[in-house]
Amino acid sequence: MAARIIDGKALSKQLRVGFRERVARLVEQGVQPGLAVILVGDSAASKVYVGNKIKACEECGVRSLHIALPADASEAEVLATIERLNADATIHGILVQLPLPAHIQVARVLEAISVHKDVDGFHLYNVGALVTGNSIFPPCTPYGVQLLLDTTGIDVAGQNVVVVGASNIVGKPMGLMLLQREATVTICHARTRDLGQHTILADILIVAAGKPGLIVPEMVKRGAIVIDVGINRLDDGRIVGDVCFDAVKEKASWITPVPGGVGPMTVTMLIENTLRSAERAFK
Ligand code: GUN
Repeated sequence: MAARIIDGKALSKQLRVGFRERVARLVEQGVQPGLAVILVGDSAASKVYVGNKIKACEECGVRSLHIALPADASEAEVLATIERLNADATIHGILVQLPLPAHIQVARVLEAISVHKDVDGFHLYNVGALVTGNSIFPPCTPYGVQLLLDTTGIDVAGQNVVVVGASNIVGKPMGLMLLQREATVTICHARTRDLGQHTILADILIVAAGKPGLIVPEMVKRGAIVIDVGINRLDDGRIVGDVCFDAVKEKASWITPVPGGVGPMTVTMLIENTLRSAERAFK
């Protein structure tokens, strides 16, 4: 039997209805939630991601401030922009779109963002909070995956979870979040030997490698839940994930499509974190 589809687009839509109500309550109290998005340079992909974030803000009633700096902007300029936004009481979330141009040190930029406005959850303090299970701003993509997993009704405690990809943005925080929920977590990466030997044991397989066609049915346990975080544009223009969807869906119990799975959830959780920040600021 083919897997059931985990519909991230539908869940996002449903969550955003609730967001509009939360924004209305905040506005009633005189607080207009605000998110600042800083984009340095003109990467086409980053522009698309930033555009999606701004659009989601508009849809939910969150004020967005889009700050576009040129590719040759200095690190000092970026830091000064962040300082200004840290001090601005009308801004509840600050996000610097990654990657940054090579002459700018990512760590310095991320550490400059106020931990109270770090809606991406990338500041070292928030990374530490995640490690110890006290996260205020869980990173958006793994946070979205967690909600998608919840829709299947599965209790992740004791499950074998295999995460493919060990990035700071997805793989590592994903593993930590599920460890917090008492899953048995394996994180695989580009240097993992015989990837399939690990993935075949997964009750829950989460793939964030950025490699189209990486996961074939032989690597998937029958009945597994498969979450595809990959977003890859093929030469013919098609957008696909890292999992061979059509074949793997015949083996999995649940699967996320690409597009329409994890992607919309990432942006939705950014709005969730921004609202939470505004609600904290109001209290
Ligand atoms: N680049 C790719 N993913 C992300 C993300 O979640 N946040 C930011 N700021 N940059 C990214």
